[in-house]
Amino acid sequence: MPIEDRDEAYLVTHALARDTLSRLRDVETEQVNFRKGLVKLGRICGYEIIDGRMETEYVEIETPLEETMGECVKGLDDVVIINVLRAATPFVEGLLKAFPRARQGVISASRDESAGREEDGSFPITIDYVKLPEIREEDTVIVADPMLATGSTMCAVLEHVVENSPEPDHLIVLAAVSAPDGLLRVNESFPEVDLLTVSIDDYLDDDGYIVPGLGDAGDRAFRTN
Ligand code: URA
Repeated sequence: MPIEDRDEAYLVTHALARDTLSRLRDVETEQVNFRKGLVKLGRICGYEIIDGRMETEYVEIETPLEETMGECVKGLDDVVIINVLRAATPFVEGLLKAFPRARQGVISASRDESAGREEDGSFPITIDYVKLPEIREEDTVIVADPMLATGSTMCAVLEHVVENSPEPDHLIVLAAVSAPDGLLRVNESFPEVDLLTVSIDDYLDDDGYIVPGLGDAGDRAFRTN
């Protein structure tokens, strides 16, 4: 079962996704392998989205020998991938291997950790930069962020996407690792969203890090720690 239904989200259960995530969790995995792991995980998740969420259609094709029927994935030209900077950059690189013709958007949203968490556990979020392609009704929009922690960033990003576009056919949030609080927040605020994740981890620590998690994914990928 490649995408398994859980109450809070759908789990991408492909064995290679779980294997890759385990390597990413390992504190010994250094920058290059960490980044490659995120690329690989993005590619696997992309293939799983195609397999579990997109339709196929039968088409007539002509091989060098005869006419026959083939099967093609519908809607591959109507995919928008939104990169939530910055940890999503290698994750999106992998997704693009599955959706090479996707239109891409970028949103830079930062959480103000120095301000501390609000009463509801969220962090204040500032959206610094937004560049989205036109989003059309027929699109499958994938908002990618490897870490869905408090959900504050994701909700700010989704608000922006929903306010500035017609309701797309299919709005997917894709995370590698999610915290239960974050899934709850996104589910409550955006019930129409299709939440996919490779793992639902145990809890958030006081600094808003997912536990067991994989640490600061941006710092590990960009070697900024
Ligand atoms: N962002 C990360 O990179 N890691 C976490 O655990 C939470 C948010």
